Amino acid sequence: MKTLTVVGARPEFVQTAPLAREISARPGITGDLIHTGQHYDYEMSELFFSQLELPEPKFHLGVGSGSHGVQTGAMLAELDTVYLGEQPDVVITHGDTNSTVAAALSAAKLGIPVAHVEAGLRSWNRGMPEELNRVVTDHLADLLYCPGEAAAENLRNEGITEGVAIVGDLMRDSLRWTMQGVDVPKTLADHGVSSGEFFFATIHRAENTDDRDVLRSILEGLAGVAQIYPVILPAHPRTRPLIHDIGVPPRVEIIEPVGHAEAMALVGDAAAVLTDSGGLQKEVYWLQTPCVTVREQTEWVETVAAGWNRLVTTDPEAIEAATREAVASRPAHPELYGDGHTAERIVDHLLMSLGRRGKPTSE
Ligand code: UD1
Repeated sequence: MKTLTVVGARPEFVQTAPLAREISARPGITGDLIHTGQHYDYEMSELFFSQLELPEPKFHLGVGSGSHGVQTGAMLAELDTVYLGEQPDVVITHGDTNSTVAAALSAAKLGIPVAHVEAGLRSWNRGMPEELNRVVTDHLADLLYCPGEAAAENLRNEGITEGVAIVGDLMRDSLRWTMQGVDVPKTLADHGVSSGEFFFATIHRAENTDDRDVLRSILEGLAGVAQIYPVILPAHPRTRPLIHDIGVPPRVEIIEPVGHAEAMALVGDAAAVLTDSGGLQKEVYWLQTPCVTVREQTEWVETVAAGWNRLVTTDPEAIEAATREAVASRPAHPELYGDGHTAERIVDHLLMSLGRRGKPTSE
């Protein structure tokens, strides 16, 4: 079976690494990567490829940044050509970015089976580009790999029942692999912080950065939080100039985006993490660090139900209060989103359902 996996943005590199390793280790299945070029800075792309030991993409589409339509359209045009030349048995696409939806749409229109990994997630907020990307991708996909039962239920509610499998989350596999090579004491020393006595923060979502007043409010919240412990904030390239323009609060250290190993070392030893990232909320949970999510909704509802994740508005006082609460609480920690062996389950399922060329057989 010949697979082509499309990646383009940071979370997809983390997700695909264990799957690429599993595909290359297994008989009867081969795989190549296509990099759309959505993320292109060294810290946003190459650093992840080298740290996660990802194979060189066979195709690099180099689409770069642009409006959603321009970016997605450029991907579609290039993907058509690659798919037609390569004739894969299945296209694998991860998550919810513009690269995700382009990968699925181009393949579906060419009649190539689509496998969507991280299927069924919903924020119920159609104002988020990621929500539109997820909904469209799920409805185009032939095989839908859900991290947990809640995601499978979301699909059922939308009438999608064929080709659905609950397999856990590939980021759990990646975390297991990354943590083996992490030097926590060195990372903490490099950043001049002590274990449990700092916060780790990331802010990059359009809804939190595009409006200056919203970002200013979040920064005021971080200023309050920084009175407890210092804050380390690796800034996404879209956020960095905006923060510097508004003004960096005292005891908040803005650093370049960090790779997976460094991020996980810091997350694991932080007093709490403040973020608007999707993937990071799960990693923070697995590392048993409390999380404050600066968003109105989360797709990772189980982390909130377990008491480890708090949703908070951009109001500075709410951010500080939720952080104080998070630091003080230590609820039970049930296993969520699999056991770190998701890649094996996905490859088993691909081989079982697509063993012969053509559309998958039903479950
Ligand atoms: C994308 C995903 C988001 C994911 C995030 C992970 C979509 C709609 N959003 O958001 O779901 O959480 O990736 O990081 O696909 N830029 C650079 N260098 C880069 C990449 C981006 O400078 O290597 C700047 C550009 O100004 C660009 C902006 O960041 O316009 C936004 O990048 P884009 O890829 O469009 O979206 P993200 O915010 O990264």
